[in-house]
Amino acid sequence: MVRVLFVCLGNICRSPTAEGIFAHLVTQAGLVDSIEIDSAGTGAWHTGERADRRARETAARRGIELMSRARAVVPADFEHFDYIVAMDRSNRDNLLEQAPPEHAHKVVMMRSFDPTAQPEQEVPDPYYGGDDGFENVCDLVTRACEGLLADVRSRLPA
Ligand code: 4NP
Repeated sequence: MVRVLFVCLGNICRSPTAEGIFAHLVTQAGLVDSIEIDSAGTGAWHTGERADRRARETAARRGIELMSRARAVVPADFEHFDYIVAMDRSNRDNLLEQAPPEHAHKVVMMRSFDPTAQPEQEVPDPYYGGDDGFENVCDLVTRACEGLLADVRSRLPA
């Protein structure tokens, strides 16, 4: 089993979108029994809420239903997950401040799996912007999830 946690700030826009898109790709690949997927926020303000309506509608137009409820990152996540995937540098730095040193190597940037991205490039926060921000998140996250799936596959037994 390989375990993947997607992390943003609120856990209502970017990381639930990444969770839903990655789950879709994993299902298509027939790997649901081999890859565990979850998402969380570095902040707890939205705990228990569904994904932002704009994120849900944008994903739904691509045939993907976002089902998760928001939660904050907890200390046990650093032990449990193999990949802890941050959407932006602020999320990444926040995670690294919390991570026990032996698990810090698990914290990676989402777009490090996007072959078209520059080092340190982010998935921009769409929360205060318009609908085009949510479309952009879906595009960036889809490309990164394809690269992430290839990376995860390399860790699974043949
Ligand atoms: P997310 O977007 O980190 O992609 O879920 C945000 C959601 C809520 C807030 C900020 C960003 N907020 O400040 O409430």
